[in-house]
Amino acid sequence: MTSIQQVSCHPMTVMQGKRGLVVGIANERSYAWFIAQAILNASGECIFTHLPGEKMERKARMAIEALGVENPTLISMDAASDEDLDKVFESLGEIDFLVHSIAFADKDWLKEGKFAATPREVYNQALDISAYTLMAMANRAIPLMPNGGSIISMSYYGAEKAVPGYNVMGVAKSALESATRYLAMELGDRNIRVNSISGGPLKTLSSMAVGGFSSILDHVEQKAPLKRNVTGDDVGGTATWLLSEMSSGVTGQVIYVDCGYASVGL
Ligand SMILES: NC(=O)c1ccc[n+]([C@@H]2O[C@H](COP(=O)([O-])OP(=O)(O)OC[C@H]3O[C@@H](n4cnc5c(N)ncnc54)[C@H](O)[C@@H]3O)[C@@H](O)[C@H]2O)c1
Repeated sequence: MTSIQQVSCHPMTVMQGKRGLVVGIANERSYAWFIAQAILNASGECIFTHLPGEKMERKARMAIEALGVENPTLISMDAASDEDLDKVFESLGEIDFLVHSIAFADKDWLKEGKFAATPREVYNQALDISAYTLMAMANRAIPLMPNGGSIISMSYYGAEKAVPGYNVMGVAKSALESATRYLAMELGDRNIRVNSISGGPLKTLSSMAVGGFSSILDHVEQKAPLKRNVTGDDVGGTATWLLSEMSSGVTGQVIYVDCGYASVGL
C-alpha cells in the first residue's frame, strides 16, 4: 500500500524546501514575474534566466529585485540555443520545479488576415521557441529531478479556438498543449508532473504584439463569468498550486485561469 505523503497546505509554506528555475521574466508585467512572486510568497526558491544582452539583463534584474530577492541567481539563456540550454541546466543542481513562460513569433504575422501566407521561417521560429523549448527544457530537467518534480508552461485559448490575430501563435500553443500531455505520459513514472496554464489576456510586452489585443481585453471583461480580466496574481496562485504537492495527482492537464471565459459558448 502506498503511504499518503503529508503535505503543507498553508499558503505561506507550500513551496518550502523547493527550488526551481523560472524562465520568462522580461519585466514586472511578465506572467513569470507574478508566478515567481507567488512561489517566493509560499517560501520557495527561484533561479532565473534572462534573454542575452545587457539591456535584457538589466530589466530582468530590476524586476527580480522588486520581488525582494537579493543577489538573485540570474543566468543568460536564449532558449533557441541548445548550447545555452545545456549550459544553464548543467549549472543548476537538483531542482523541484520548472516554469516555462516564454513565447515568440514575428509580430508582422500576428495580425488579422496574416495567417495563410505565414512564411516557413516565421512558423518554424514560433513553434521552436514557443513549443519545442518546453520539451528541450523538460528533457534537461529529468536528471535534475531524482525525487520527482513539477513543470508548468503558459498557454492561451487561441490553442483550441481561432482568435483573430493570434494566428501562428495559436498553432504553437496547440503544440505546447500537446507536448504537455506527451511529456506527462513519459515522465509520470518518475513522478514528474507536467501541466499548462491557459491564462487569460494580460497586458505584457508579448501580448501587446498581438493585433487587436485591447479589444480582446474588452471582450473578455464583458463575456467572462467573473466579468473581469485575469490578474497576474490569479495565475501566480494556480501556478504555485501546480508546482506544490497540493496538486500531487494532477498531470497532463491544461488548467484555465481565465475568469471562466473558455467555459462560455455565447
Ligand atoms: N499576456 C497574455 O495575455 C498571455 C495569455 C496567455 C498566455 N501567455 C503566455 O505567457 C507566457 C509569458 O508571456 P508574457 O505575456 O508574460 O509576456 P512577456 O513578454 O513578459 O514574456 C515573454 C518572455 O519570453 C521570453 N523569450 C522570448 N524568446 C525567448 C528565447 N528565445 N529564449 C528565452 N526566452 C525568450 C522573453 O524574454 C520574455 O521574458 C508566454 O508563453 C505567453 O504566450 C500570455
